[in-house]
Amino acid sequence: MSVASDAAALLERLRNHSMTTYQHSCNVGNLASALAEGLGMQQDEVNVITLGGLLHDIGKVRVRTSILHKAARLTPAEWEVMRRHPDFGVQILAAVEKFDIIEPLVAYHHERWDGRGYYGLQGNDIPWAPGLLPWPMPSTP
Ligand SMILES: [Fe+2]
Repeated sequence: MSVASDAAALLERLRNHSMTTYQHSCNVGNLASALAEGLGMQQDEVNVITLGGLLHDIGKVRVRTSILHKAARLTPAEWEVMRRHPDFGVQILAAVEKFDIIEPLVAYHHERWDGRGYYGLQGNDIPWAPGLLPWPMPSTP
C-alpha cells in the first residue's frame, strides 16, 4: 500500500472514532501544508509536514470518546490517559515503516517553545523544531 492509502485508512479510523478530531486533523494538515509552502520548503518537506499534521492526533483513536468529548474538566486520571495520545500515535504509526519520518512530529506535537508542553522540551531541543523553523529562534529566559 502507498503512504497515501495507509494515511487515508488511518484517517478513516479516526473519523469513525471522533468526527471532531478528524476535522481538527484535516485543518492542521491544511494549515501545516500552507505554512510549509509559505516558508518555501521543498515539496518533500511539505509532504512530510502535511502528513504529520494530518496524523498528529491519530493516537486519540485509543482514547475513549467519553474522555475525548467530555465537556467538563477532565479528572486527573482522565487527563493522564489524554496526555498519552502522542505515545499512542507513535505506537500506531510504528506498524507502518514508511511513517517513521513523521514519528517526531506526532510524538512531540504538544511541546511548546517555552518548555510548557507534555514532555517539557524547550526550543531547539524539540526534535522537529530545528528542521521546521528556517531561522534561529531566541532562547527563552
Ligand atoms: Fe494532540
